[in-house]
Order: sequence, then C-alpha cells, then structure tokens
Amino acid sequence: MNIPTPDGLFNNENFTENIREPQPTRTPTQEYVLHAMPDALRMVKEGTLSYAQLRQSQAALLDNAAESILGNTDERTALVTQLDLAFMLGGYLPSGSDAYVNAPSQLLALLDYQAETFNLPNRMDYELIIDVNTEEFNTTGHMRTYLNGPDAQSERDFYLGHHVSESYLKQVASSLDGIVVGDITGADIQPTLQTAQQNLKLFREYMAAYMRLSATVFDTSLRPYLATYPDGIRNASGAFMPSVQLTELALHAPTEQQTKYIDMALPYFPRATRAKIENAHQQSLSGKNLADMITAGDLSLDRESSNMLNAIVEEFITFRTTHLAVVRHKIPQAFVEDAGPKSRQQFAAFGEPDIMADGEKGTADFHIVNFLAGSVHRLIQAKRQLDTD
Ligand code: HEM
Repeated sequence: MNIPTPDGLFNNENFTENIREPQPTRTPTQEYVLHAMPDALRMVKEGTLSYAQLRQSQAALLDNAAESILGNTDERTALVTQLDLAFMLGGYLPSGSDAYVNAPSQLLALLDYQAETFNLPNRMDYELIIDVNTEEFNTTGHMRTYLNGPDAQSERDFYLGHHVSESYLKQVASSLDGIVVGDITGADIQPTLQTAQQNLKLFREYMAAYMRLSATVFDTSLRPYLATYPDGIRNASGAFMPSVQLTELALHAPTEQQTKYIDMALPYFPRATRAKIENAHQQSLSGKNLADMITAGDLSLDRESSNMLNAIVEEFITFRTTHLAVVRHKIPQAFVEDAGPKSRQQFAAFGEPDIMADGEKGTADFHIVNFLAGSVHRLIQAKRQLDTD
C-alpha cells in the first residue's frame, strides 16, 4: 500500500495514481462511477448535458444493474455499491432543492433498499466517502471522485488525507482513554503520552498539507456535490471523524454546545464507532476525563507526564487553529460578516456561541465560525484547567 506522507498530499509529482493488480469488478455500477460519471458531471456543469439526459442514462444503467443489486447477499459488495449509488445521487446536489426530482427514481429506491437490507447509510456519509473509498483505492488504485482531470487527484487526496491521518489520531484517543479507565498506569504513562504527542503532531502536519489544495477546486468545484440534502440530511464532513471527538472527550468534560453537537452528529459517524462515541460521551460527562480527574485528585501525574499532557493539548489547539486557517482559505465567504477570532486572546474570549445559528454552514450543516472557533475555545479552557495544578 502506498501511504502518502503529508508532503505527498496535493503534490502530483510526489504521489501519482498507482494502478494495482487488475481486480474483478465488484459492483455493477463501478465502471460508470469511476470512469464515466466525472466527465458527465463536468458536461452538466458546462451546460452541454442536461439533468434530464443525465437521469435518462443513469436510469438505463440502473435498470440493467437492479437484478444484480437486488440479488446480492454479500455485505462488502453492498457497501461499495452504496458508495457508488451515493456518488450518483451527489451528482444532483448542485441542483439544490430539485436534486431528488432530477435524480432517477430507481436510484433513491435502491439506496433505501440497500440501507434497509444491509443496515447502511442511505445517503453519502463519512464512512462511505472517506473510509470505504480509501479501502477500495488501496486494493484497486482507483478513488471514486466527482471531479475529472487533474482536479480528480486533488479530490482523491482530500479523501485519502482524512483516512490516512486519522490512523495516527486513533492511537492518541485510545491512549488517553487508557489512562482515564486505568488500563495505562504508573511508569507506562509518560512514554504513552510521548508517543501520543508525536502522533498528534503528525496528524496536525497532514492538516497543514490541505493549505496546498486549491480553494477554487474545493469551494467552486467540489463543495456543491457535498451539500446538505434537500430534506436536511447532513452530508459527509470532518465533523464526523470519530477520533477527534474521542480524543477531546478523554481530555475534558463535554460542554453544552459539544453535547448538542454529539447528540445531533451521532447517526452520521461511521457505524462501528457510534456506540464508542456515545459511551465516551457518558463517561466524560460523569467526570471520567483527564482534566476533571486531575482536578479532583483522582489522578496524579509526575512532572514529566504533566508537561507532556500539556504539550498534547497545545498540539490539539494547533491542529484546530490550523484547520480553521485552512477553512478560512477555502471558504472565505464564511468569514465576511464575522471575521472570527484569530489570536489566542480572541479565542479565549470567544466562548461557544450557538453551533446552529444562521449563517454560512459547512457540509455537516453547522455554523462554520461558531462551530470551529468554539471548539478551539473549549481546548483553551481545558488547558487552563490542567495548568492550574
Ligand atoms: C479543505 C479542507 C477542509 C475544509 C474546507 C474543512 C471544512 C470544515 C468545516 C466547514 C467544518 C464545520 C462542520 C461542517 O461541516 O458543517 C469542519 C469540521 C471539522 N473538520 Fe474539516 N475541513 C477540511 C479538512 C479537514 C481535515 C483534513 C480534517 C482532519 C484531518 C478535518 C477535520 C474536521 C473536524 C474534526 C471537524 C469538527 C470540528 C472539530 O472537532 O475540530 N477537516 N471542517
């Protein structure tokens, strides 16, 4: 497997598409979604193909594929087919409130059928577009994308970077939780925290690589396909990356806005992580988190471990301020009416305003400035709580 380093992302010279051994075709829709659809979507965008023509060609494809999809009993095939179908539906999202009308009725019916039969998401979500898409890339060398030409490589790296970088954060989340629940104790704490700090730094370096992604490719070309669905269903977003939330829940008690977010976001996280997030939320609320345990005297760290924990929170803050800088670069219109905080002092004073306020929303449908700057504020508060000991 060719895992890109942070330097390899959004850098076509360092990381070119790698075609693996030919794989048997897994889904009846894969050839179309991988190779024909990005060109068709480009033609729709340029006005040389209408939504009616797109619907007609997809309806014919689905009529042919229906027997195979309805007869399938293999879970992995169903999952990858659902990714294909969700990509097909995403192609209509730039048409806004008409998206469901423009899409072929067979497409919506098959998405619902598969969701019910195999307990799958019935729309595009984080698990499908990031995790399943990358797993398929790792075996076939092909990533499903909406965009064609050179922009497809940027879109591929956008998905790939989320998946690859999260593997480093998983260790951080599980180490911090291990200390909270008492699985990691005594002399094991300091080296565990040291590894966590190094992994968090690497995770943050992946984030910084997103500065190289063109703002036009992201905002003008890609984002319309990731819009919220006409019935309000949220689309895929980093807001549904599990390890960031698990790391934070192990660090400090959830605030009111954070609880509101987790309650709303739970059905959008990858299926296998939902129970874990729910449990971590309850555990953290009940005082089983590092900041509260240290404050209450239930956990005492030696000087070196304590310094390391502080370095971890600082690294986490830098991840979030780097992310915010990337979002400011890609979606500048979100910062026109409210420039949002920039300095440490401004973040500290910002508080946590309503994440559902009116204003420019992200693909997860949260108020961009309030959501992202409020999350930085929470970590600064946690660091203050840890610093007072
Ligand atoms: C072009 C790059 C990116 C843009 C424009 C972007 C945009 C956004 C936006 C607008 C939100 C607010 C929630 C919503 O969608 O409504 C968000 C949330 C989030 N994003 Fe991103 N994002 C980018 C890359 C990444 C990457 C690479 C990661 C992780 C490696 C990431 C992780 C997160 C997380 C964890 C949240 C939830 C807030 C938090 O816990 O800090 N994002 N993102």
